[in-house]
Amino acid sequence: MQITNICCIGAGYVGGPTMAIIAKQCPEIKVTVVDLNEARIAAWNDQDMDNMPVYEPGLSDVVAQARGRNLFFSTDVDKAIDEAQMIFISVNTPTKTYGSGKGMGADLKWIELCARQIARVSKSNKIIVEKSTLPVRTAEAIKDILQYAGNDIEFQVLSNPEFLAEGTAVEDLLNPDRVLIGGDSSPEGKRAIESLVEIYNNWIPRERILTTNVWSSELSKLVANAFLAQRISSINAISELCEKTEADVNEVARAIGMDSRIGPKFLKASVGFGGSCFQKDILNLVYISRSFGLTEVADYWEQVIIMNDHQKKRFALNIVRKLYNTVSGKKIAFLGWAFKKDTNDTRESAAIYVADYLLNEQAELRVYDPKVVERQVYADLDYLGSRTAEQNRASIGVGADPYEVCKGAHAIAVLTEWDEFKDYDWERIYDGMLKPAKIFDGRNLLDADKLRSIGFIVQSIGTKSLKKQLVAV
Ligand code: NAD
Ligand code: UDX
Repeated sequence: MQITNICCIGAGYVGGPTMAIIAKQCPEIKVTVVDLNEARIAAWNDQDMDNMPVYEPGLSDVVAQARGRNLFFSTDVDKAIDEAQMIFISVNTPTKTYGSGKGMGADLKWIELCARQIARVSKSNKIIVEKSTLPVRTAEAIKDILQYAGNDIEFQVLSNPEFLAEGTAVEDLLNPDRVLIGGDSSPEGKRAIESLVEIYNNWIPRERILTTNVWSSELSKLVANAFLAQRISSINAISELCEKTEADVNEVARAIGMDSRIGPKFLKASVGFGGSCFQKDILNLVYISRSFGLTEVADYWEQVIIMNDHQKKRFALNIVRKLYNTVSGKKIAFLGWAFKKDTNDTRESAAIYVADYLLNEQAELRVYDPKVVERQVYADLDYLGSRTAEQNRASIGVGADPYEVCKGAHAIAVLTEWDEFKDYDWERIYDGMLKPAKIFDGRNLLDADKLRSIGFIVQSIGTKSLKKQLVAV
């Protein structure tokens, strides 16, 4: 079937950019992105591109080019479903916060709501595409709901997980390593797969479009994220050993990464991985494995999360220890709050957890992030429920000027690897700080030797410990 009308339910970090690129690359297809969240849709429709709900390099140009031509953002979900031949479901699938599977399984209530709405509204045959990341065999539940709608409509359900990373979404969507499409092996299923292949084939070579059965496709997404996160936890585990042995984690990563079987990517030691996907998807994998009685498999993958939690905590505890075992009333400046550079997304950012530990120790925190606004920092901390909203606002401030944020601080913690941090006037920052001025670089971003020559005491993840530096002095 030649597709000319697409709807996407969910205008978030995946739905928005993904559909903007399809609209850009396929001007003959009308693409409507719908969401229940009126403010989000209004922001996507805002003429001032600075107000877009998702910050991604290059995205505003893509949206400006296609919006109003063949890309539309709307809250009229029923109308968009009714008119579309193909419906992408790109809603949130967070970790459950209640009932059975609490803290482990994926909460699929928004997925089910979408399936029921599609079943209720549809008057013509449709292809449903799972774009959200879902537990393996979710398509079965979606099919069930659609089949029992009693409206004689043929629905095909495809799995087409998204592999984009935030901060590089436009580049990843324009030039993906692969596109994965899972579907039924029936003739109707194969036709549905082919319709989606044709859309992607407008800009992606056929050999990079992989087709599989639905279950392999659903599971591959969880597995891809688990493998990526596992590499980070592995190098982070080694970073702790490096700090004890005077090995340097950057040198170790380089040495092992040059082995073509290991490869150089995703070996950057850090304060811990964040983002909305890794933890959620591994927990989901662990939960599924446990539900099949696969205890060893579940325990194996759970260790990736345990290591990540340890890394965040150990970073915070190290700050306390190196500030003479107390940070009570001491000012600590945070450079970065987003879970990685080039995004305004803060979901599961390591910064939130490090801040929480330090606030428990009565530190006074000041935060600067080039893309994260003050209300988001407060929302992230309030969500943890560790203290009241008033207490959070009394002990953490957010500033728009990094030099002001660092002024009078006992220490600086680098939580996000924003490029601009490298180019600051570090002499000026040093002059404004209390002495000894300490930097805890959770991203191995800054030039430690240069900072030491200014007078800073620097602790970068996985490198010589502060104690050894002091002994050396
Ligand atoms: P998001 O929270 O940014 O966006 C989801 C949107 O869906 C929200 O705006 C919400 O209002 C809307 N929504 C929920 N239920 C709805 C309904 N019934 N009708 C209409 N709108 C509804 O989430 P996201 O980051 O875009 O992630 C979406 C999915 O993609 C998740 O399953 C996630 O795991 C997966 N994913 C995310 C990324 C990423 O980098 N963020 C990458 C790959 C895959
Ligand atoms: C990830 C996957 O990369 C992407 O394919 C999937 O679709 C969604 O989840 P994302 O979470 O946006 O993407 O960013 P990613 O670049 O993977 O980084 C995740 C976290 O790991 C960040 O906090 C990042 O700083 C951290 N990280 C990444 C490291 O600590 N070290 C590394 O070497 C790489």
